[in-house]
Parts: sequence; C-alpha cells; structure tokens
Amino acid sequence: MKNINVGELRWNVVDQGVGQPLLLIHGFPLDHTMWQFQIEDLSRDFRIIAPDLRGFGASDSNDAPMSMADFADDLARLLTALDVDSPVNICGLSMGGYIAWEFWHRHPQRLSRLILCDTRAAADNTETQNTRRSTAERVLRDGTDFLARMMIPKLFDQETLAQKSALVEATRQVLLGTNPVAIAAALNGMAEREDATDWLPEIRIPALLLCGVSDSITPAEEMQQIAETMPDSQYVTIPQAGHMAPLENPQVCNRALRDFLGA
Ligand code: MLT
Repeated sequence: MKNINVGELRWNVVDQGVGQPLLLIHGFPLDHTMWQFQIEDLSRDFRIIAPDLRGFGASDSNDAPMSMADFADDLARLLTALDVDSPVNICGLSMGGYIAWEFWHRHPQRLSRLILCDTRAAADNTETQNTRRSTAERVLRDGTDFLARMMIPKLFDQETLAQKSALVEATRQVLLGTNPVAIAAALNGMAEREDATDWLPEIRIPALLLCGVSDSITPAEEMQQIAETMPDSQYVTIPQAGHMAPLENPQVCNRALRDFLGA
C-alpha cells in the first residue's frame, strides 16, 4: 500500500507490479480490497493501481458532496501524482463503472481500454433517486448497520453466501467501517449521475463487459444490451457469481481480463 497526497487529501492506494497500468475502481460502499484476487494475480503482468476512493477505505474525506465526475477527476489527479502519463486500462465495478463512464467522458486521452463489471449506463429513475436520498439521510442518522443488513444479501450469489462466509464477512466489515458521510455523498452523487446511454455508440476504444449470472442489482441482460450498443466491445457472463463477480469468481474474471488485455 502507498499513501500519497493528491491536492489536500491523502490517498490509500495499491500500486503493485510493472507493465501496462490497470486502474481498478471499487464499488459502493467498499474499498480496494474487493479487488484482492485481481491485485494478487494480475500484478504479475500489469501495474495495478487500486485506490480507495475519496472518503472510502483509508483514504481521506473532505466531507464535500461527490459527483461521479468529481471521482473521475480525482482519479485523473491520482494518476498524475503516480507519474502515469500514458493512457491506462480502467476496470470499474458498479459505482466504479459509473465513474469509468465519466472518466471516458472527461479524460478520453488518458484511457486506452475500458472494462465494466456489474454496472449500468442508464441514470436512476425518480423512485431510485428518492430511495438513495432517504438512505443517505438514514445512514447519517443511524450509521451503517442497517445498510449492511440491506445490501450484503443482494451483493452475492446464493452459493457465495452459503460457501464463502469469510469473503462475505470481510465485505460486511468493510461496509460497516465506511464513513457514513462518504456513503451519503456517494449515494447523492449516484442519484445525480449523468445518463451514459447516449455516450455508448461514441465509445470507440475496446471494451470488455462482465456480469455475474445472478447479479440482482445490475442484471446481466442489461449489460449485454450495453455491449451491443458499443462499437468495439465483448460481453462475458460470469458463472457462480452475483454483483461482486471479480470477488466471487476470480478465476473466470481474471481469465476474461487477461484474454481482453492480451496477457
Ligand atoms: C455498487 O455496487 O457500487 C452499487 O450497487 C451501485 C448502485 O447502487 O447503483
């Protein structure tokens, strides 16, 4: 792990391996540890950069509102601070995917290939926006316990929940330990995010889309449709996985990533 100052904030980031940079953007409301199996395996062939986003994990928060665009700009600044000048491969899961669309939109010259895991392109409808806003208020008032009870069963496939209790428990602990202020900022940021659907035909760089077969948060069919709209994309369904496909089935995910990235 590295601690690195970017502007006024101190970031916690894994920077491991040599080769083409691969930036891993975690989902909500987690941290870099969700990529543990990608860091371990892929850092043999790539320079893996896996930060805790602002306010998450062990990275600082300045308690400011956070849009997906703000997170994308943070990552561009982080790459500069790490002396990464050449275009990078980016892999984002769920909220990390929303940030990856914004990164493409705002920093296209810094991006070489895009990997989207268990995410969507469409913006929230009004009902989802309202739910996010009330969840943000509740987490500030009540803390993270209720959120862990609500989210953990939805994040994983039934088989993962039954057979990989250490992984599930580690994820629960990350969620429970996340700063409620950062959670609320990210919930409001997701509610306000841009709809990336119209951008899809314009994303001409190579893209890989992965989705756990039993993902109940971002259904596999929706990701398949996204892939069909992007000019240079491939889609892979990940068996024995729900929303946390890279954590639940790293063998199949890592093989797909290696095939796509040519390692
Ligand atoms: C995530 O895993 O990042 C979240 O489920 C994204 C969301 O709530 O839309």
